[in-house]
Amino acid sequence: MARIIFPDAKELKDLSAVQSHLARLGITLRSWPAPADKRARELMEKKSLNDAEKEELLGFVQNRFEELKREKGYQTRDMVVIHEDIPGLADMLAKFDKIHTHADNEVRYILAGTGYFGFVEPDGGQYLLEVNGGDYINVPANAEHWFEMRGCARCKAVRYFIDTSGWTPNYTGRTREFAEAAATA
Ligand SMILES: [Fe+2]
Repeated sequence: MARIIFPDAKELKDLSAVQSHLARLGITLRSWPAPADKRARELMEKKSLNDAEKEELLGFVQNRFEELKREKGYQTRDMVVIHEDIPGLADMLAKFDKIHTHADNEVRYILAGTGYFGFVEPDGGQYLLEVNGGDYINVPANAEHWFEMRGCARCKAVRYFIDTSGWTPNYTGRTREFAEAAATA
């Protein structure tokens, strides 16, 4: 279940309160329980997945893709599997841990593990959203955000795209106040 963490370490855990806070930035958060099937759970618990296993796991959440295709015109999806032994992991994560925007929405369905989105409010305030297995998030185009693992090793997420060209990060150059505050805590 997702929670918001503010720079002063206060937290927001109640789902509807978290959803309301995110909605101020046009962000949608839904609770979509991860598949309970035994084989799906086996795949979600593996450290890494080969391409066939990724497709197999995507098959367990195909109904979600069909819903997004119908409702919002999504065209493609893939699965990203982050774990501690990925070669070049730090470089991969460094592309997204600086504040950026995208020309298209960033849509993720977390199946397993944990990750952190950071968001910038209109007054410049920043906060973190911890996402876990069963969280669906839609970050609108042009919303300033970042993504980081904050010491968590693993995350499996489905990425949905209308057009993959909208996925390039455009760095805004803004400083991550939250990260500096957290680092000294
Ligand atoms: Fe992003």
